[in-house]
Amino acid sequence: MGTKIIGTGVYLPKNVLTNFDLEKIVDTSDEWITTRTGIKERRIAKEETITYMATQAAKEALREANLSPEELDLIILATLTPQKRFPSTACLVQAQLKAKGVYAFDISAACSGFIYALDIADSFIKSGKAKNVLVIGAEKLSEAVDWEDRSTCVLFGDGAGAVVVTRSEDKSDILATRMYAEGSLEELLHADNCGYIRMKGRELFKVAVRSMEEVCREVLEKAGVKPEEVSLVIPHQANVRIINALAEKLNIPKEKVFVNIQKYGNTSAASIPIALHEAIKEGKVKRGDLILMTAMGGGLTWGAVLLRY
Ligand code: UT7
Repeated sequence: MGTKIIGTGVYLPKNVLTNFDLEKIVDTSDEWITTRTGIKERRIAKEETITYMATQAAKEALREANLSPEELDLIILATLTPQKRFPSTACLVQAQLKAKGVYAFDISAACSGFIYALDIADSFIKSGKAKNVLVIGAEKLSEAVDWEDRSTCVLFGDGAGAVVVTRSEDKSDILATRMYAEGSLEELLHADNCGYIRMKGRELFKVAVRSMEEVCREVLEKAGVKPEEVSLVIPHQANVRIINALAEKLNIPKEKVFVNIQKYGNTSAASIPIALHEAIKEGKVKRGDLILMTAMGGGLTWGAVLLRY
C-alpha cells in the first residue's frame, strides 16, 4: 500500500509587491534583495483571508483529484498564521468545502509545516486510518511581518498550496521521511511578543544548509536511493543562495532543483506545495519520477520527504 499524490492546487493573491515598491517603504534596494535572496516580487493578500486562500487551493486540488469533499477522511493544514487562535483554520476550510464527516486539524511547524503535514498524512494512510487526505500549506505572512524591519519584510509573501493524497496500489509512494525539531535554537527564527517575525539571518543560513543536507542524505539512504537518481529537488524557498548551496553539497545539478522564489518570496508552509504544483504544470515532474522535498524553518524544525510521483 502506497501514498499517492492525485491532485494539486494553489491560490496566489493577485496583488504583487515588487522590490521597487519596497524601496519606497524601507531603506532597501532591488539590487540588495535580488543578489542576497533571489526574490524579485511577492504576492500580498488584500481582502483575501488565509481561509479563503486555503479553500481555493483545496478546491483546485480536489477538482484535479476528481474527488468530492465528502470523500475526504482528513484535512491537515500547516500554517504559522492561522485565521484565529481557535477553531483551527483546517476546520474553517472544512466548513467552506462542506466536507462532511472529516477529521481536521492544523499543525504548527513554520516553514517545515507542509512536509510535516505530508508525513502525518502518509502515516494515516499507511496505518489504514484514512484513505483520502487533503494537505494544505497556507500563509498570510504579510500580517506577521514588521513592515519597518527591512531585514525581514523584504523576504516574505502570502499564498496557499494544497495536495490530495490517497492510498495507492501502484508504484507511486512516499518512500522515506524524516522530521526534526530543536527548540533550543528558537532564537534564530521566532515570533516576538507582538507576533512579528524576528530572524538572525546569517546564523540561520548556515543551519539551513547543513540541516537540509543532512536530512536529505538520511532519507535517500533510508530508501536506498542515490542523489543522482533524484529527478527533481523541491526545496523550501527561503533564499536562492541557500538552495544553490544545498544543491552543490548534494552534488545535484541546478537544473534538477526547482526555484520559483523570484515570484513569491518565502511563503513558509505554502512554499513547497506551490512549487510542487508549478513543477507538475511545467512538465518538470512525471509519473514515476523520484522527488525530494526538504525544508527548514522556525522551531527550529526541518525535514525531508522522498517520493515516487
Ligand atoms: O524560511 C525559514 C528559513 N529562513 C532562512 O533560512 C533565511 C536564512 N537567512 C538568509 O536568507 C539571509 O541571511 C538573509 C537574506 C536574511 C540576509 O542576507 P545576508 O547576506 O545574511 O545579510 P546580513 O543579514 O548579513 O546583512 C548584511 C547587510 C547588513 O548591513 P551591514 O551590517 O553589513 O552594514 C544589513 O544591515 O545588509 C543589511 N541589510 C539590508 N540592506 C538593504 C539587511 N537587510 C537589508 C535590506 N536592504 N532589506
